[in-house]
Amino acid sequence: MPVWDGSVEASIRHAAEALAAGQLVAFPTETVYGLGARADDDAAVAAIFAAKGRPRDHPLIVHVASLDAAAAFADLASHQAARTLAEQFWPGPMTLILPRRPGFAEAAAGGQGSIGLRWPAHPVAQALLEAAADLGVPGVAAPSANRFGRVSPTLARHVVAEFGPELIVLDGGACHVGIESTIVDCTRERPALLRPGMLGRPLIEAAIGEPLRDAGKAAPRAPGTLEAHYAPQAKLRLMETRMLQQALEVLQGGEAPKGLAVYSRTVRRVAPGIVFKPMPEQAADAARELFSVLRDFDAKGVRLIWVETPPPGPAWEGVRDRLQRAAAS
Ligand code: TXA
Ligand code: MG
Repeated sequence: MPVWDGSVEASIRHAAEALAAGQLVAFPTETVYGLGARADDDAAVAAIFAAKGRPRDHPLIVHVASLDAAAAFADLASHQAARTLAEQFWPGPMTLILPRRPGFAEAAAGGQGSIGLRWPAHPVAQALLEAAADLGVPGVAAPSANRFGRVSPTLARHVVAEFGPELIVLDGGACHVGIESTIVDCTRERPALLRPGMLGRPLIEAAIGEPLRDAGKAAPRAPGTLEAHYAPQAKLRLMETRMLQQALEVLQGGEAPKGLAVYSRTVRRVAPGIVFKPMPEQAADAARELFSVLRDFDAKGVRLIWVETPPPGPAWEGVRDRLQRAAAS
């Protein structure tokens, strides 16, 4: 079974060789696992779309191992906000959308005139990207390693559950951030937040010295920005604190409905028969475990998940966003 230990040098070398030869390789990043293919190989990129069941016009993020490598795909230097963000936050959980150099990674970009670029911080991702670059791979296109519309994987075994044992998976343990990168669109006059993440709005705004625009309707079509996405098998319902508490009180004493799970920061006790998981107090901890928790509920045969709406404020924006999309499915 090709799950390879990402801390072993030979695994990195073999995975890089597979990428260079046009094969798919799943690898860990600090956010979630990615399903990678060399970005300059249209057939390899097509295999990603096919494996995921993702429409071909939905652009992929191209991962690189340096600013110079990013500059091969887009003219970073002449976009001030993008340059500032790249210098401050790369390597890290941030994707920048920039005008694409014509003729580069067109299939990976889903035919868009723009391209999403990211230099990830995970040591296994970096080792892989660097080893692949040494073999002539200019960048690695990689969406999250899940089937279209599903919850992103944060463990190697999640990837195997999505795609089966044939796929090469580099195991780097649990992803530290847990939700996908923050996406900033730098193709417009003023940068816009296309997808919130754990690298939060305030830090980005402080770096560029102006408020981020919201994505709005003009944004290019992007699966991570579709309203219904990141869905577990179970139906997920977001509930305000009081409403959740009242609903649970009603169930106390009576018979618990079959297949109900509760994920909450304030509730501490539920009626027997209800699957309960406390939500961490800190947004970073909640983000780190979120997708694993949803997958675990599915594995337990849960059919309905009641999730307490996270607190308002920028720290929780990424987690709120993923939960809202999961609830919209
Ligand atoms: O954290 C992440 O970003 C992970 C890891 C593997 O890096 N990747 C990820 O990829 O979440 P994916 O494909 O699941 O989501 C990428 C998002 C999509 O919403 C996609 O449409 C958007 O980035 N995107 C990529 N290129 C774009 C472009 N040129 N214009 C607009 N959106 C773009
Ligand atoms: Mg995804």
